[in-house]
This record gives sequence, structure tokens and C-alpha cells, in this order.
Amino acid sequence: MPRYPDEAREQIRDAVDFADLVGARTELRRAGSGRLEGLCPFHDERTPSFGIDPGQKLYHCFGCNAGGDVFKFVQETEGLDFVGAMEYLADRYGVTLEPVAEDPGALERRKHVERLHELLDRTAGFYERYLWDSAEAAPAREYLAGRGLQEASLRAYRVGYSPSRFDVVLKASRRAGFSNRECEAAGLTQRSQSGPLIDRFRRRIMFPLADRRGRVMGFGARALGADQMPKYLNSSENELFSKGRNVYGAHVARVAATKAGSVVLCEGYTDVIALHQAGLQNVVGSMGTALTEHQVGELARLAPQVALALDADAAGQEAMLRAAKVAAGRKLELRVVPLPAGRDPADVVADGGADAIRSLVEASVPFVTFRVQRELAREDLDSAEAKDRAIDALRPVLAPLAPSALREELILSVADATKLAPSLVAGWLAGPRRTPPATAAGGGSRSTGVGIGRPRGQRRWTPPGPPQPPGAPNPAAAARRASAPDPLDLQERQFLAACIGSPKDGATFLADAEAQQALSTPLNRRAIAHLRSHLGAPASRTDDDPELAAFMAELVNRATHLHSRTVLEAEALKLRKARLDRRIADLRAAGAGDIATLAAERSALQHALDRLVPQAMEADLG
Ligand code: CTP
Ligand code: MN
Repeated sequence: MPRYPDEAREQIRDAVDFADLVGARTELRRAGSGRLEGLCPFHDERTPSFGIDPGQKLYHCFGCNAGGDVFKFVQETEGLDFVGAMEYLADRYGVTLEPVAEDPGALERRKHVERLHELLDRTAGFYERYLWDSAEAAPAREYLAGRGLQEASLRAYRVGYSPSRFDVVLKASRRAGFSNRECEAAGLTQRSQSGPLIDRFRRRIMFPLADRRGRVMGFGARALGADQMPKYLNSSENELFSKGRNVYGAHVARVAATKAGSVVLCEGYTDVIALHQAGLQNVVGSMGTALTEHQVGELARLAPQVALALDADAAGQEAMLRAAKVAAGRKLELRVVPLPAGRDPADVVADGGADAIRSLVEASVPFVTFRVQRELAREDLDSAEAKDRAIDALRPVLAPLAPSALREELILSVADATKLAPSLVAGWLAGPRRTPPATAAGGGSRSTGVGIGRPRGQRRWTPPGPPQPPGAPNPAAAARRASAPDPLDLQERQFLAACIGSPKDGATFLADAEAQQALSTPLNRRAIAHLRSHLGAPASRTDDDPELAAFMAELVNRATHLHSRTVLEAEALKLRKARLDRRIADLRAAGAGDIATLAAERSALQHALDRLVPQAMEADLG
């Protein structure tokens, strides 16, 4: 990847017409104080909570908290990395980019990788044309049509066909000026048994595997004839391609996934294409492997919620448990799509059409519900021992759940399945582990969090209750909104924003002894340190701290409503009060300290505020 000089960044920022850039994604209207607002391009909404400041070139959404500068906007909407976003904007707004001189080794390596990309891209184009235009590929076209896959959907993923002749790609690539070494490095050729280099892929349906920018990195190739082994042949792992680092179809799914706030994960290439065709465009594939950390990272980049649409068989269920383990510790909400036993998503579309798969995806359940249902389906829950085992297995699943309607509902379902009193079950599921029952088999040994344990007579996991009504609120977006900052944090932000809103007075307030007190979060502390020297242009010099950059965007947006000295005074007083509240709460919790004095101080502040706030509101209107 080329490097560009630091000045280029600001040159590009200056050149960007931000209203034009954002306007291409969502319709914008004037909203006072120079701000423009519109429907958020990052989540579904009906009334605008998204706004930009065309002067500062910052955006922020109060609904989903997306926010940042011109580069962040392009990174998010186009799925590019930072350098990619620079190149995109430079191109669009006519800035000439000169890479900084690289050391010769790095330059050569970059040129090499660019050549491989070009070769892979040409080859994908060749396979695609061959599928649609050659007589040889007629059986492949029939096969795909027979599976209900339409040309338009197949073209969206650039599906192709590799000829049976053993050197078509090699020869064509040589003619185009690529060396044998390059063909090998791109994973397109291999040594035949007798020695010479031949095409690796022959007589197969070709699924190009692309990175999230849509650049082809390798291929998955499906056999057409029953005589061909293996069923799937992939590019060998090479310098560009690593199966475990990508999910299939991410570049196609990105925009839809961002909007929906969720992404559907299935196993196969054909599943992905079938779902896309059924109108679920936020879909990607795991390519059959156990999910890796990298793949979970890719999923998290796409959306905060993942609906697992993996096989309902034992292997698929294990895959889901593993996925949950890998996803643990990330802010990723997992749900499970209840597929009928023995059918993959492509089968569901083929059997029941688009509506069938859509209603299954809508009927997805939280991962924890899946765990409980699976545990209850494990064995006949008639004997007392079996019930005890089920309770033991479910304790680590349910005990950590915060009190909620969902938890209540799950406990009731356990009580129902075990025919035990709900109050008893609730107590057992919450409490510490009982001593194991003294059975000869040592029952109760199954106590690990993820109950992969020994195989038992498993009942099929059957799809749970009725689908949620379509148009139900997007739970991921709701969760993001629900994680509201605590009052002190919020008041600190409000104060910082007010300083930005009236920078002249703001500078004095920031320097004031009261403001020197440590703020309550690391981000707010970074922000105040930054603002002390950049109050006039809060968004500048934040490039090496993307979190701070997004935060500045949020503050600048807040600041558009806070632009007078009186407002600033009020916010400073409110901050003092919020700090007192915090100290009082802490002292109460510790059961000690001079609360009375603090309370007196607080009521004096409240009086001052009662006088100031009406003035501030008037000032705000003016
Ligand atoms: N896979 C693979 N290599 C294999 C087998 C499977 O890479 N030897 C991956 C492919 O990405 C495949 C997915 O695992 O799409 C799921 O495998 P499978 O269920 O066997 O294939 P399907 O995609 O369902 O293919 P089809 O329906 O055409 O049989
Ligand atoms: Mn299949």
C-alpha cells in the first residue's frame, strides 16, 4: 500500500465538498446554524437524527452515534481503509496524490502485489465470460439454473466457469505479459505430475473470493461432475489469500449490513447467493470453516449483530457454540436462525422461496435462547436425574444473565420442560452449583460453560415460536441507543461542547480551576487535553486517534445548540452539580462521610442554576 505525505491529508480535506459527498448518500436539508440534516445513512430511521457541519466537515448521528470526518465517512460508506479513502477522495475532488518515496524493497513488493491483483481480476473476468458465453459451460449454466440461481445474482458475485483444457489460463496470462512465477504466486497454476505447470482449476464452477474492498484474492471452485474430487477446491493459501481471514461476500453485503445493523452468516457460497437473490443482501459466508478470530472481526466490522444461519445438524450446532466462544468478549450480538433439520439456506430458498427464508431470519432467537432450547432438547426430561443434569448445564448459561424479561421467559421454559415449579427452578439456576448427585456414572460432570461434552441422544432442535412481526425495531440499534452514558459523563460532554460553542469564553472556562479536575472517563480526559490547544478547530490533529476524532465530531454537533456565554456558565454549574452528585452517591455507598455539607453545597448550586437556566434558554433561542 502506498504511503502519502501528511500534508496530502489536509489538502484533500480542504478540497472536499462535504455537503456534496454526503448528499450522494442521503438527502440533506438546512437545519439552522449552517448545519444540514437528513436521514442517517448508517441506520434505518424515519425522522432525521443525522447531521453534518459542512464547514468543519464533520458528521454525527444522535440515533446510532456514528460520527467522524470526511475520511471516516468514506471509510464507512465505501468500505475502504484510510489510504483507500484518501485515494477515493483525491480522485473525486481532483487532488493529485504523490506517494512518498518508498525504500526500493517495499516498492518492489507493492508492485508485485498489485500485479497479482491485476492477474486475479483478469482471470475472474475470464472465468465469468466463459460461464456465460462458452458452449462448454452449458451444463454449468443448467446446473446453476436448476438450483434456482439467476444470472443477475450470479453476476453480482462474479461467478464463473473454468474450462477443462489444462493450460487456458496459463497461456492467456503469459500472452498478457505475466510470468510463470506470477501465475503460481496468484494460486492459478500448479505442477502437473509429469512436471510442467498447468491450470489449477479445470471444469469447475468458480466463486471468486474477494476482500472487503472487492479485490479478488483467490477462488473457491465447485466440481460439476460426480466424478470430480474434491467437491470444492480452493486456492491454496498464499501471500494474498487466506481463507480464515475473510468472509465470503463481505464487499457485496457491506452497505445493506450497515443499514440493517445486522448481518446473516451462512456456510456455503450458494447459500450466500441464494439469500442475496431472496432480497436479504446483508449476507456473508463462513466458507464451511470453524469461525476464526479474524472472521469474527470481519463480521463485527459489518454490523453489531450477527444472525447465524448454520446447519441445524450437530456439526452446525457445534459451529455455533464455537462461534459464540470466539465472539465472546466482543460487542457482537449473536442470534440464531432456526433452520429446519437437514436444510441449508439455499435449500430453504429453493423449497419455499424468498418469503420462507425471510421469515426464518425474522424468527431468529438470541443466542442464549438457542442454548437453552438445545439443552432442553438433549434428553428426555422425565427422570429426576435428567432434570438435575439439565439444570446444571443451564446454570452457567442463565446465571450471568441480567434480570430481564428474556431471562424470566427462559426460566419459565425450563420450568415448563422439567415440570418443576418456576420459583424452584429460578433459585437453582441462580444459585451456586449443587453438590453432584451420587450416581455411579458421576452425573453432573457436565458443568463447563459450553456444553459440548459427551454425545447424548440428541433430539433435533426445533424452530421456536412465531416469527417476530416484520418491521419490529432493529434490536442492535436499540441496544446501541440503550447504552447511554452515565449522567456525569454526559454532563462533561455537554460542558466540553459548550466550550466549543463559545470558543472565546470556552478557553477561559477550560483553563479554570474547576475544569482542571479530572474528568470521569479516559475519552473525556483526552478530549479536554486536546481542546485546550485546539478549541478553534476541534477536528484538526486527531488523525492518529480515530476515537477522539469521532468524539470531536459528536461534540461539534452538540455545540451547534450551545452558543452563548450564559449557556456555557449554566453547563459549568451543571457539571459542578453532577460532580457533587457523584461524590454524594459514592459517600452513601461507602456509608460514611460528611454528606450534609455536600448536600448544602448542592442546594446552593441548584439555586444558582434555577436562576441561570431560564436565561440560558433565552440565550440559546437568540
Ligand atoms: N467448503 C470448502 N471446501 C470443501 C467443502 C466445503 O471450502 N472441501 C466450503 C465452501 O465454502 C462451501 C461450504 O464450505 O460452500 C459449505 O459446504 P457444503 O455444505 O458441502 O457445500 P454447499 O455450499 O452447500 O454446496 P452445494 O450446496 O453446492 O453442495
Ligand atoms: Mn448446500
